[in-house]
Amino acid sequence: MFNPTAFAPRLIEWYRRHGRDLPWRHTRDPYRIWLSEVILQQTRVRQGMPYYHAFVEKFPTVSDLAAASEQEVLRLWQGLGYYSRARNLHETARIVAQTYNGVFPDNYAGLLALKGVGPYTAAAIASFAFGEQVAVLDGNVYRVLARLLGIETDIATPKAKTEFARVAATLVPADEPDTYNQAIMEFGAIQCTPVAPDCLLCPFQAECAACNTGRQHELPVKSKKGLVKNRFFHYIVVRFGDGVAMKQRPAGDIWQGLYDFPLVEQTAQESIASPDELLGLPAVAALGTPTSVSLEPEAYTHILTHQRIEARFWRLEYNMPPVLPPAVQLYTAAQAHDLPKPVLIDKFLKTVFV
Ligand code: ADE
Repeated sequence: MFNPTAFAPRLIEWYRRHGRDLPWRHTRDPYRIWLSEVILQQTRVRQGMPYYHAFVEKFPTVSDLAAASEQEVLRLWQGLGYYSRARNLHETARIVAQTYNGVFPDNYAGLLALKGVGPYTAAAIASFAFGEQVAVLDGNVYRVLARLLGIETDIATPKAKTEFARVAATLVPADEPDTYNQAIMEFGAIQCTPVAPDCLLCPFQAECAACNTGRQHELPVKSKKGLVKNRFFHYIVVRFGDGVAMKQRPAGDIWQGLYDFPLVEQTAQESIASPDELLGLPAVAALGTPTSVSLEPEAYTHILTHQRIEARFWRLEYNMPPVLPPAVQLYTAAQAHDLPKPVLIDKFLKTVFV
């Protein structure tokens, strides 16, 4: 049977032996802790580390981040995906800098009241920076608790939040809530992992409900996400002189604020089959007459949470200035490099300026 009072000390003992030495575990600066947690909600430690260092170096304080342009922030975030997170990060930094004089609130309730800071992040900052006795609840914690206690509630439901939060709150010790919270997340990240938990060497093996009944792979229960939508992008890569035409993506769709090329989207598999067909499209004809048109043989696929993007690239060369729509501009290689871009576009761009 699971022993709740022995859990924290034994988990912390495991953590002291096996926990990784990570940079954000050596600071009490709420700004750095916040940065690391926002990055780590997006990616794993190994991929997140260079981003953490880059942000801390470029923006050592929350006021430095607040003073940056959105474009700089998106450019530094490039490759992490889910770009609304980067915009929210920036907005929250501005609120802290302007409304709070650059000082983060020093408790859970105050942090939670900050726009853009949710229960997870508020608990992480409150415990790691200020030693407050609050439980963090992220995917790692759901998994560890669901398995140890045999909780079968679907973690994708709102009901699960309340139920897991109640259990989690009873387990956080008054002394060392910070170490305990790092420990439970670390335990989920390296011991009680999603696909291949290391039950053989687990200190809780004997009392784990999942291990005792062979249900490690059934817990936690998580209902499937909605359908994935297929989208087909035909990018029009306009070259003139040493420039390439790019535009900023609008609000209300993926990659808001990032830069890509003029785009013709198709709703189904039907494709633009030939250069003539492409040049017959009014938006393409309006650019003027290119000296050459070629289709990149390779299609690029990009998978997002609810969308699968298949992108094709048409290269159009002009020897007279093309007639670009107002939002589209020519950029040199160096300018294009500095723009924030979806990874897909960044990859392709490397083949444009070789
Ligand atoms: N994932 C989320 N937060 C983390 C942390 N502080 N350390 C390791 N992995 C994490």
